[in-house]
Amino acid sequence: MLEKAYYRTFQAVFNIGSRCMNWPTPALYTGPGSIEKIPELLDKEKVRNVMVVTGPSVGKKLAPRILSLLDHAGIRYVLFAEVESNPTVIIVNKIQKLYLENGCDGFLAIGGGSPIDAAKGAAARVVRPKAEVGKMAGLLKVMKKIPPFIAVPTTAGTGSETTIAAVITDSETHHKYAIMDLKLVPKYAILDPELTRELPPKITATTGMDALTHAVEAYTNLTYNTDETIRMSEEAVCEIFRYLERAYSDGNDMEARTQMLIASYKAGFAFTRACVGNVHAIAHTLGGLYNTPHGLANAVILPIVLEDYGEAVYVKLAHLAELTGLKDEGSVEEKAKAFIAEIRNMNRRMGIPTGFDFIKEEDIPQMISWALAETNPFYPVPVIYDRRRCEAVIRRIISEA
Ligand SMILES: [Fe+2]
Repeated sequence: MLEKAYYRTFQAVFNIGSRCMNWPTPALYTGPGSIEKIPELLDKEKVRNVMVVTGPSVGKKLAPRILSLLDHAGIRYVLFAEVESNPTVIIVNKIQKLYLENGCDGFLAIGGGSPIDAAKGAAARVVRPKAEVGKMAGLLKVMKKIPPFIAVPTTAGTGSETTIAAVITDSETHHKYAIMDLKLVPKYAILDPELTRELPPKITATTGMDALTHAVEAYTNLTYNTDETIRMSEEAVCEIFRYLERAYSDGNDMEARTQMLIASYKAGFAFTRACVGNVHAIAHTLGGLYNTPHGLANAVILPIVLEDYGEAVYVKLAHLAELTGLKDEGSVEEKAKAFIAEIRNMNRRMGIPTGFDFIKEEDIPQMISWALAETNPFYPVPVIYDRRRCEAVIRRIISEA
């Protein structure tokens, strides 16, 4: 009880401070062909040698389109295309080293959340060379302007192009944690749906469910929400319900691809201010320990945690059920349950499992410790978990596999 009172007091005090902060948003360029804007933006920022950060697959398939634009404009670049999912401290340090060795003067991150987060981590290290990555974990530890940063998402999910967070994994301990700082919001975000056209259905599904989790966790959180984050969450949920499965079944549906990128951006806008919650905190432990893709972990855990929250979230979920046109008759409880049931239905229709059977018994105590340490005291979750309740949720994730 005392702990919970402390967490709520912390959140109330942080909320007052948060409303006095200047929350930056990236300048946004959207639509097919918007990548063509990149050379002009780099030029505007006087970037002459840009550090391009991406993953192996995007590095082969999509990055060349952007690199040829740079070649054409006479902008030099250094390419690092080795960021795998759940990027590690080692990768962040490699990027920082390359950046400094080559005298780079800006970042261009192309990919899903992993390359964008790894580049953000490296940017933080560039301006804080004495701070180890782990030392910047948590809130407001960077506090220094990073070099010009352009984020180009190639999935519609993480929202990293607009958030204050970089999620990094310690390769030795397998602890996955977030560096959160207003300075990590990219200066520019390019939402070009052409880059998501060839995304495989499975990744479209899980990254889209990550975006849904951002919107729902932000929306059901207490305290930090503003009128704008509430509106952004609601719009994101409606758009994801409408367009995710269209993008999943037809990757060439450019309207669906465009709307999913916008929804993901809106969900990112909402959660960077209003925070994520227990779903993400538990999902991060699976990413760190078992390399579970982030969106997949969230997709599986989201309905389980919402069911566990019970009546604490009924009113808000009922409202989402009405807004999405899912159910506008019946009691608040019935509508909320219909909303959760629809998340399970979406998962099933897109081939996402109902649980995970690979979680090892001996890892559970560590998972609980990491998840609670991530959530408390900072995330204003609708239900504060203690060890017992967190364990019960993890055991449901296993038993529902
Ligand atoms: Fe996420």
